[in-house]
Amino acid sequence: MCHHNRFLLLNVAKSDIISLVFQVDETLCPFKLSQEQLQLVKARMRAGLEAGLKTKGSSAIKMLPSYVYRTPDGTEHGKYLALDLGGTNFRAMMVNFKRQNARLYHKIYTIPLEIMQGTGEELFDHIAQCVSDFLDYMGMKNAHLPAGFTFSFPCEQTAIDTVSGTLVSWTKGYKATDCEGHDVVSMLREAIKRRNEFDLDIVAVVNDTVGTMMSCAYEDPQCEIGLIAGTGTNVCYMEEEVDAELSKMCINTEWGGLGDDGSLDDIITPYDMEVNQNSINPGRQRFEKLTSGMYLGEIVRQVLLDLTRGGLLFRGHVTETLKTPGIFETKYLSQIERWEKLCVSVRETLGLKGTCDDSIIVKEVCGAVSRRAAQLCGAGMAAVVDKIRENRGLDHLNITVGVDGALYKLHPHFSRVLKDTTEVLAPQCNVTFLPSEEGSGKGAALISAVARQIITSRTGRWTLLDIMQQFRRELAKGLGRDTNPTAALKMLPTFVRSIPDGSEKGDFIALDLGGSNFRILRVKVSHEKKQTVQMESQIYDTPEDIIHGSGTRLFDHVAECLGDFMEKQNIKDKKLPVGFTFSFPCQQTKLDEGFLITWTKRFKAGGVEGMDVVKLLNKAIKKRGDYDADIMAVVNDTVGTMMTCGFDDQRCEVGIIIGTGTNACYMEELRNIDLVEGDEGRMCVNTEWGAFGDDGRLEDIRTEFDREIDRGSINPGKQLFEKMVSGMYMGELVRLILVKMAREGLVFEGRITPELLTKGKFETKHISAIEKSKEGLSKAREILTRLGVEPSTDDFSLVSQVCTVVSFRSANLIAAALAGILMRLKENKGVARLRTTVGIDGSLYKMHPQYARRLHKAVRRLVPDTDVRFLLSESGSGKGAAMVTAVAYRLAEHSRQIAQILSEFRLTTEQLLEVRKLSQWCVCVCVCVFPCVLCHYLTPS
Ligand code: G6P
Ligand code: G6P
Ligand code: BGC
Ligand code: BGC
Repeated sequence: MCHHNRFLLLNVAKSDIISLVFQVDETLCPFKLSQEQLQLVKARMRAGLEAGLKTKGSSAIKMLPSYVYRTPDGTEHGKYLALDLGGTNFRAMMVNFKRQNARLYHKIYTIPLEIMQGTGEELFDHIAQCVSDFLDYMGMKNAHLPAGFTFSFPCEQTAIDTVSGTLVSWTKGYKATDCEGHDVVSMLREAIKRRNEFDLDIVAVVNDTVGTMMSCAYEDPQCEIGLIAGTGTNVCYMEEEVDAELSKMCINTEWGGLGDDGSLDDIITPYDMEVNQNSINPGRQRFEKLTSGMYLGEIVRQVLLDLTRGGLLFRGHVTETLKTPGIFETKYLSQIERWEKLCVSVRETLGLKGTCDDSIIVKEVCGAVSRRAAQLCGAGMAAVVDKIRENRGLDHLNITVGVDGALYKLHPHFSRVLKDTTEVLAPQCNVTFLPSEEGSGKGAALISAVARQIITSRTGRWTLLDIMQQFRRELAKGLGRDTNPTAALKMLPTFVRSIPDGSEKGDFIALDLGGSNFRILRVKVSHEKKQTVQMESQIYDTPEDIIHGSGTRLFDHVAECLGDFMEKQNIKDKKLPVGFTFSFPCQQTKLDEGFLITWTKRFKAGGVEGMDVVKLLNKAIKKRGDYDADIMAVVNDTVGTMMTCGFDDQRCEVGIIIGTGTNACYMEELRNIDLVEGDEGRMCVNTEWGAFGDDGRLEDIRTEFDREIDRGSINPGKQLFEKMVSGMYMGELVRLILVKMAREGLVFEGRITPELLTKGKFETKHISAIEKSKEGLSKAREILTRLGVEPSTDDFSLVSQVCTVVSFRSANLIAAALAGILMRLKENKGVARLRTTVGIDGSLYKMHPQYARRLHKAVRRLVPDTDVRFLLSESGSGKGAAMVTAVAYRLAEHSRQIAQILSEFRLTTEQLLEVRKLSQWCVCVCVCVFPCVLCHYLTPS
């Protein structure tokens, strides 16, 4: 029942008051919701959210994934354009993020009704025209800025970096034809193309709720909900349980659709029904039609019509004005409810010649309608915050809601009633409502900044997860017998079956060819009390003409350096076992053989591909004739690194190189390696991950700069992953980006020097120097001066940003691939938590000031249930190669000794046949003397 306790101010005769009050209150009664009703709405909203998450789009509340995985973290930077369509106006905005600060410029455009309800082409042409005007206004027509598009309607998205949004259905006042079911980003791009006057790089499309949440989260990290109470209404929030692999994603609930399945019928009044019937989308957005700015005025008008028809208002005089749909705008509601100038307000705004008493009744109607709207939104919000609290298993939740929209901002009581209702209905949550100052455009720009990071460089977490999954698929493909021939990852068996076990000993030579240095080492492993290693090494030159000349010259050079080293070590007369670290992809069927599949990095000596490098080296040594060597093992540098680190940490089962090139190896279960016989135990597999993407898998994330690097390389189309991430290419990537920026006038005042245009002038070591926080600036000055440019202070900061972007991307991509390997190890072992060690080497990893930290962090984020130790290989992969050689040497020695002993027992075939007959005797000898080995010898083939 409703209470009749108002209208005390009415200026009518007392006897009439009672009846008037009674009748008006009776009319407004259905708008007054009890606590129980609000609790019910909260419960229905909650059920709607859950159903939406389960059914993915087919329920009343759509729960659309936004592919926004995190709120801003302050690292966003750069200039972005934001286009903001779907609220009261269209807004174009330029946002410049600089060190946790955002500068904004914007211009507002109205969208005429005939455009809102014309054809899709007209609508997008109109937007393109507004953008053109804005770019003129900003003097940025030629800037080709990245742009974020706030599109405040329900859209289906697939991933933020695919940049598309399929309009599910128009809402609010829009009804342009040929848009529903189409990608609005493509429509905007086509309109821009039709204008043929400027270009935009649209990098993100976002709902206004998401934009608002992001804007507010820029100020308050606790902001994980976005609410719009404006022309339309909607909420988004960070949901934890979207996908088993991801911890959080922002979901655009589209809560305006609550009730579209009839679940709100019990609170819907005849006035609401009327408004729904007259709307452009009858039957849809029922919750929105009870709560948002576009409809509240209309509801009020319907009530006023009814009251007037009943003679309770305006002396029963129904004017044409009152009969006009849309005449009573929500902003009038706000004005009227602001008590001052009430009578004037009603008269002026509505053109209704009523008395002041009429005005009081009108105000009462407005109050009932707006209060209900705020309460309903409060009930909805209570459902959302309670869900988040439960998702997180908390007794109490502190959270901030970023809010925008004319209703929230302009109405005198809406915000208070909303907050009060939320508090009452969700008592375990402390909810702060933070109004967004700059609209959702700033948020769209922030999301663009994040999306941009993915597209151009700093790969965001969501694509990293994709990349990790792709990488895992590729690993499996490379291991399969039938799929290996077409796999990008070659997954080469190495015939190394275990890491050092502490029993290795001896005197070894290690050759280490393929990194930035060619090194020869002598490694002595002794066993007095404990295992100790002594090493001596020398670096030799490998001149450009040798690595690009003939294979014979290259191996002659290696043999010559080895001769020199042995001479210096005084061991030319000894035949020491040699381990050969050869840092290129090699096909092996045993430890001491390696057929080079293809050269990589800087090497291109002729006549080596397809050949066994051990044979080539032996040949070169023999040709000299001044010393002898016994090459017992050829190992990749990753394997050498894993073995070096395995010497110190028995848990080490992965080896990675992040240097001139990049690669990884790990211990795989033999049963999974189709290319090698046997099921028992493990074998180290050289993944050759540098070739990841050579089958086109990385095309989505490769940039124009990556393509240019590839085109200019000695092996186009090959090692595409390596070319995005490794030391040989990163400096060049930075140079190419700077050239482009200079051409666009963004750095160096547009000046391009011949040095800047010279390939290789900017090296990866320069990135490391510039990113050092202390000396970075003076280093940058020195490096840029050498490039012939006169940098300004802004230039320094831009150059350093470019370096950061490129090195961040590298660390993230490597993290994704490494995470793929760790996931595989975890699965192979069938453990809930993986404890493992990764051995690492390479100049980029070692020299870059921030690389290691970023890599570790990204890996730990990607594979949360793992305790990974990253162990830097202090002594290069030569030591590891010596360990492999030690094992090979021990096995070979063992076989040799056995063979020697057995030679005394060696019998003729006739004798053997004779012996075989005496099998009983044989068994006895076998068991007593040399069990299986003898049996083997005694059994003729
Ligand atoms: C923000 C956003 C708009 C959004 C609007 C809602 O300002 O930038 O995209 O649609 O709020 O407000 P309105 O009240 O205009 O519908
Ligand atoms: C280790 C190995 C080299 C390897 C190098 C990679 O030190 O001993 O064989 O190739 O790391 O580093 P770089 O940065 O020189 O390519
Ligand atoms: C749209 C939402 C939007 C909201 C607020 C609704 O009509 O469906 O996508 O967020 O209005 O602008
Ligand atoms: C090679 C790998 C090597 C890596 C690191 C790549 O170019 O193909 O075999 O491990 O560089 O040196």
